[in-house]
Amino acid sequence: MLAFIGGSGLYDLPGLEILEEVEVETPFGKPSAPVVRARAGGKEVLFLARHGKNHEYPPHRVPYRANLWALAELGATAVVGINAVGGIDPLLRPGDFVVVDQFLDFTKSRPQTFYEGKFSPDYEPKKGKKHELLLAQKKVVHVDVSHPFCSELRRLLAAVLEEENLRYHLGGTYAATEGPRLESAAEIRALALLGAAVVGMTMVPEVVLARELQLHYAGLCVVTNPAAGIAGRRLTSEEVVSMMKRKEEEIKRVVLRLVERFEGTSGWNCDCGRTLEGAEI
Ligand code: HPA
Repeated sequence: MLAFIGGSGLYDLPGLEILEEVEVETPFGKPSAPVVRARAGGKEVLFLARHGKNHEYPPHRVPYRANLWALAELGATAVVGINAVGGIDPLLRPGDFVVVDQFLDFTKSRPQTFYEGKFSPDYEPKKGKKHELLLAQKKVVHVDVSHPFCSELRRLLAAVLEEENLRYHLGGTYAATEGPRLESAAEIRALALLGAAVVGMTMVPEVVLARELQLHYAGLCVVTNPAAGIAGRRLTSEEVVSMMKRKEEEIKRVVLRLVERFEGTSGWNCDCGRTLEGAEI
């Protein structure tokens, strides 16, 4: 099943028929909001508001582990994270979509693993899935993130953006900053030198944790503003949220078509379903 995680300015998914809101308790606490079970074109999907229904969770305090664990427990196999980002690459214009393919991580305070060895919470496996067993056994895991984003889900997203005639860029490096403050102009110049195309505050550790659960994960970034120092004026949260609102209709089209085109992950030629093989110590 497909799941969507909505970022700043996207607290529900218009166009979906809501079935129920599920309160989930995970070994890592409660997700940032109830998980919404919804239907589109006869297919079931999940939706979760990353920052909470009323944006109560700043980027560094989002319960990323609970969010991903809850989606996996409710049957998600593929997750699309929808993220507002600042544009660093001069080719990017506010309003563009970017399907990123790499990340640079400058976050500082966030747990990036479910598997904390002897420090793991006690846990009884529910369905006998590999990630449940590793947690129950209090294992330590070093997951490979050479290519963190699912190539198949990215391909599907690109096809959908193409079909919907939307301006998008396939590929690009996402720089994750700790926030909640925005970046300095010098930081953005440094990130540009390192090859970052966009900057945001949430896709790490989300993609890493998805990989630790063997989920297929892709990021759909929406450029909401030129990154700090580029436009020569101060940045505001207002412009981020107002751009996301302006893009809501397009995001809805992308989501609906993606759901329509998604036929499960079984034939996919990627390594997302095998990330835990040989990863534990
Ligand atoms: N920086 C970090 N995160 C963001 C930005 C930005 O400029 N815009 C939207 N999210």
